[in-house]
Amino acid sequence: MKREILLWDETIFKDRDVLEFDHMPEHFAHRESQMEALKFCVRPAFQGARPVNALCLGPPGTGKTTAIYKLFSEMEAHSSKVVPVHVNCQMDHTRHAIFLRIYSKLLGHSPPTSGVSFKRVLERIARTMAKENRVLVVALDDVNYLFPEKEVDRVLYTLLRAHETFPGFRAGVIAILSEPALTYVFDPRVGSVFQAEEVSFPLYSMEEIRDILKRRADLGFYPGVVSSEIIDKISDFTERAGDLRVGIDLLKRGGMEAERRASRSISSEDVGRAYERSRLVHLSSALKPLRDEELLLLAIAAEMETSKAGDLYKRFQASTGAGYTRFHEILNKLDAARLVDTDFSGPGHRGRSRIVRIRYDPKEVLERVRPQEAPPQTRKYMD
Ligand SMILES: Nc1ncnc2c1ncn2[C@@H]1O[C@H](COP(=O)(O)OP(=O)(O)OP(=O)(O)O)[C@@H](O)[C@H]1O
Ligand SMILES: [Mg+2]
Repeated sequence: MKREILLWDETIFKDRDVLEFDHMPEHFAHRESQMEALKFCVRPAFQGARPVNALCLGPPGTGKTTAIYKLFSEMEAHSSKVVPVHVNCQMDHTRHAIFLRIYSKLLGHSPPTSGVSFKRVLERIARTMAKENRVLVVALDDVNYLFPEKEVDRVLYTLLRAHETFPGFRAGVIAILSEPALTYVFDPRVGSVFQAEEVSFPLYSMEEIRDILKRRADLGFYPGVVSSEIIDKISDFTERAGDLRVGIDLLKRGGMEAERRASRSISSEDVGRAYERSRLVHLSSALKPLRDEELLLLAIAAEMETSKAGDLYKRFQASTGAGYTRFHEILNKLDAARLVDTDFSGPGHRGRSRIVRIRYDPKEVLERVRPQEAPPQTRKYMD
């Protein structure tokens, strides 16, 4: 008979990687119509024509990024005439960074000198593409990170109008936006060239959630570790949270809790304990890329809960000595990351009286940003 107790060198995980968010699921179910719509958009590129632009919209964890990865890997396997480039705008949030990303993908290396001008980078990309008769498809993932300073207008304008300067250069854009969408009004010059086909990614139904999580659990754990009751419980939590990542994280953390008890199966209590951490996967992933100064402003905003931008600035300046421009930049970044809401409607000098509201429970934010007032080198977000 199998022992109930797990030995030191034993594990219930068959493949831990499967339970990470960046794992690419082999089986991408329940998104057939979205994949079809995206294929329709990129199809012209295979005939050497300009692709139809697309805008993917949907709440977090509904498979938008996964759909693009799947689409791009199929495209690459099919033909080298089309060059798909996935840009994570949270990381590359300036036009320059985005074109460097395209350059590296196209030429297989970064530009020879780091200080190379934007004009040069664009010219090299456009001429190479035109000469080789290839078509560019750029996915701007989490495009909201390009909203501050209207960077998105510059990026779209350049990509979609470069053919006027470089004949033979053809590019299409797939923009990806997590809902609830921030309101953004494109510059009219961009609006006229970025006419996008909307592809909507609705929330998964309870049945779909259960199906996806069951498959993931079967790949991630040995048989008998996750019962169907546990899958039901996790699916229930996931549906309430509205983000599939919560379910994937619950599987992983539930497994860790079971191992902590040296048990061979995940119990309902394990899932309950795991939920404490898993329910805020969003908050955690939004905090990860922030720098100390940005975390500090977020912490002050959390302490104040709702404040006038001017008052927030005074406190921020008192602790950092930073100027208004820097403050304004960071505030926009926190807004784009959907950590705070800023209401631009109020009157006031340079927006100082606009209202800033923290979007999460302030206590949850402070616990993550300043765990027990740890020393600065460890203060950065802890998982
Ligand atoms: N249909 C599906 N089948 C299997 N796994 C899926 C499916 N949809 C999403 N996932 C998984 O859920 C997680 C989140 O998916 P993804 O990153 O594609 O969401 P997203 O819509 O891009 O979210 P966000 O708006 O937060 O960026 C990933 O780990 C992915 O593997
Ligand atoms: Mg995504």
